[in-house]
Amino acid sequence: MNLCVVGLQWGDEGKGKIVDILAEQSDIVVRYSGGANAGHTVIVGDDRFALHLLPSGSIRPNVICVIANGVVVDPDVLTEGIEKLAQKNISLNDRLLISENAHVVLDYHKKEDQLREESLGKNKLGTTVRGIGPCYADKVGRSYTVRMGDLRDLKKLKAKLQTIVEYKNKIFAALYDAEPIRADKILKKCKSYADKFLPFITDTTEFLHKSIAEGKSILFEGAQGSLLDLDHGTFPFVTSSNSSSLGMPAGCGVPAKLVDKLIGVAKAYTTRVGAGPFPTEQDNETGQYIRDKGNEYGTTTGRPRRCGWFDAVAVSYAVTIGAVDSAALMHLDTLSGLKEIKICRAYKINGEEKTFFPANTDRLSQASPIYETVPGWDEEITEVNDFHDLPVNAQNYICRIEETVKKPITIIGVGPKRSQTIFR
Ligand code: GDP
Ligand code: IMO
Ligand code: MG
Repeated sequence: MNLCVVGLQWGDEGKGKIVDILAEQSDIVVRYSGGANAGHTVIVGDDRFALHLLPSGSIRPNVICVIANGVVVDPDVLTEGIEKLAQKNISLNDRLLISENAHVVLDYHKKEDQLREESLGKNKLGTTVRGIGPCYADKVGRSYTVRMGDLRDLKKLKAKLQTIVEYKNKIFAALYDAEPIRADKILKKCKSYADKFLPFITDTTEFLHKSIAEGKSILFEGAQGSLLDLDHGTFPFVTSSNSSSLGMPAGCGVPAKLVDKLIGVAKAYTTRVGAGPFPTEQDNETGQYIRDKGNEYGTTTGRPRRCGWFDAVAVSYAVTIGAVDSAALMHLDTLSGLKEIKICRAYKINGEEKTFFPANTDRLSQASPIYETVPGWDEEITEVNDFHDLPVNAQNYICRIEETVKKPITIIGVGPKRSQTIFR
């Protein structure tokens, strides 16, 4: 059985937790898009892991972890991730594979990300400043790139870096009046990356297809969320990759039809970090209640997340474009204590009722949500492990969301820990 887990909102839905749980039944877990902009949290007992590049199957010692071609790899973040796991006696030796075709995020990408955001002032996108946009832009531009496989030939890489750095410095000086970067410094870092990562760098597409032929079960781990998809999200307030499930085949070389089940992950409400339209946002006491109770602060940047009601229009869209089979609904526990809960079932745009999400920032900015209101519940539910033991209003809320998004909710999160999960 091959599974794909994908975020159905604007990221941080709880994908890390779900991937960790499903990885118990998987031989291989594959990250196929994004980079260290992702922050996937796994909590097991008293141990908390924040994974940025390593697949969320890393915590399970028998799982093979693949970073595929579609990922942009920041070797510094990867090194830190491996070291943090080592501190907990979790080793990735012999079970980490990194695509030779994955592009490398270098210091000049992060610098460019930061300079560009600063220069945009109030129009900034609110990126994670992890160099994601600049690295993917170089990938598409093709002329000035470093891929993981380039670490195999440092002599060739030296010449390449000299050309790249010359080009980047012209941009830094002309557009931002910024200090130049030094090619020798970057080359030195690349040498240390080569020392660390060469044993892991390989043709991951070949590995995945061989594994499929051997009947291995593979879990594909999406990063970000479907509404941050470069082509199908709320452009330009998106990330620079296809973060919906549509990005999975290109991101790892395995066609979508080899995936048996697609599991979408959503929160029982909505959050977003960074700029961009968010029709159900509650920039008020309710939003603050959710932020405090749900600990809604970014895993990667620590920024407070914007919070709002569940948006069935947005999630239905993500389900539709992603061919999602079933959903995991996380953070149900965060809603405990609210008297009433709202679900957005449609938008009003220019006087017209719309139930198909407009992936167009101008139109979406004009959308006013049409809500239905359901009664909340007071009980804390973090210890509940059977659906039927949930307060009736919580059960009804789940069922109502199932009706609005027209997919079964088979997993429910009632707390951050691996164990705080209800299966139906
Ligand atoms: P990801 O990027 O989709 O993997 O999600 P993040 O890890 O960035 O953010 C999800 C946050 O919610 C993390 O702090 C998780 O530990 C936490 N979390 C996940 N599921 C639940 C849940 O059901 N209830 C609560 N209270 N926290 C959860
Ligand atoms: P996970 O995998 C939430 C958002 C940023 C910003 C926009 C562009 O943890 O769900 P980027 O640095 O990618 O150029 O930023 O995308 N963003 C995320 N938001 N979760 C993420 O990942 C995100 N990755 C990027 O906040 O709005
Ligand atoms: Mg996250």
